[in-house]
Amino acid sequence: MPEAVEVKSGLEGVVVSNTALSFIDGNSGTLLFRGINIHELAEKSSFEEVCFLLWHGRLPKKPELQAIGEELGRSRALPMGVVDHLRRIGGGAKPMAALRTGASLLASFDPESEDNSRGANLRKAVRLTGQMATLVAAFDRIRNGKAPMAPDPMLGHAADFLRMVQGKVPDDVSVRAMDMALVLHADHGFNASTFAARVTASTLSDIYSAITTAIGTLKGSLHGGANEAVMKMLIEIGSPERVPDYLEQALAAKKRVMGFGHRVYKTFDPRAEHLREMSRQLGQRNGNMKWYEMTTRIEDWMVKQKRLYPNVDLYSASCFHSMGIAADLYTPIFATSRVAGWTAHVLEQHENNRLIRPDAQYVGPFNVPYTRLEER
Ligand code: COA
Repeated sequence: MPEAVEVKSGLEGVVVSNTALSFIDGNSGTLLFRGINIHELAEKSSFEEVCFLLWHGRLPKKPELQAIGEELGRSRALPMGVVDHLRRIGGGAKPMAALRTGASLLASFDPESEDNSRGANLRKAVRLTGQMATLVAAFDRIRNGKAPMAPDPMLGHAADFLRMVQGKVPDDVSVRAMDMALVLHADHGFNASTFAARVTASTLSDIYSAITTAIGTLKGSLHGGANEAVMKMLIEIGSPERVPDYLEQALAAKKRVMGFGHRVYKTFDPRAEHLREMSRQLGQRNGNMKWYEMTTRIEDWMVKQKRLYPNVDLYSASCFHSMGIAADLYTPIFATSRVAGWTAHVLEQHENNRLIRPDAQYVGPFNVPYTRLEER
């Protein structure tokens, strides 16, 4: 019998690799992308700039920022074969499932799909990031019986994405909020979907396979799916006054309150602060503070009663709802941003690759005799 070893449930606290992409201190609520504090990036940067920062390790100079914006703009167009596929599945799929299949299908239209050189993977990182936004927007319009909108390469990524979802030129507050949401979600250490992408990349599989793996992993409600679940909870609660009763009942029934708690943060998730402010501004703009007020009440109650702090998904729900976006698009929007981090992690994994292959402790029986079929 092999000796029992300590199993690190959920891989908690296990360090599997070095990374220079993001730093998280869960006790102080600190998040850095390539050493730059997320608060500075949220206030001063743009999604295009953060993509460059993650992929190249430094902030872009002016011409580089313009070039990455143009490249992303050009990349947003989808191959017709992918649009045809979205039309065929139409309302029959959930958006995350459509996105997972769509991202995988994009490989079939990319002549560089199997080229794992750094140059090709960088080009594919830009293409995937551009195309993911259009995949999400096009799927939403098609399932609502509308023609998908062609991307406008002259617009910023957040503005064009919103325009393609909403079918009209978006207002400035919504563009700012979407750009900030994309910045805040772009990377986050070795979260489950990023780790999944790195495992796939570590086998020297292609970047499309790694991103498809990541999308499937993000989909779960303990990870990226929590933002959609938060909106469902807000709708179920219905009004700010009902918050305490709802939470008491939910926790008594041992339910998880979505948008709270985190494997790494033991205090406020720094990303939530910015989304809370955007949620307030969007509510004010709409003349409807209900979602914002309900969410802040939930936050106050959970912090006081349970010492559980909000994570990134708590306020993104009311932000996206105030922009008129369907709840099941929130996780795909998360993916639209996180693809920047996922692709940066694939590049980093390939810089110094070793197959990721952990062990498990076998807890089954030994020496079980094989029983012939007719004797079972
Ligand atoms: N609601 C209620 N209780 C929660 C909770 C939540 N959102 N998050 C954690 N807890 C409680 C657990 O019930 C558990 O209590 P117990 O020890 O009495 O059983 C304890 O806190 C530890 O939870 P655990 O699941 O072991 O922590 P984890 O590190 O594995 O989980 C999450 C992290 C994110 C999966 C967890 O906090 C969660 O389920 N949150 C809700 C989903 C969510 O918002 N996900 C988005 C993350 S960005």
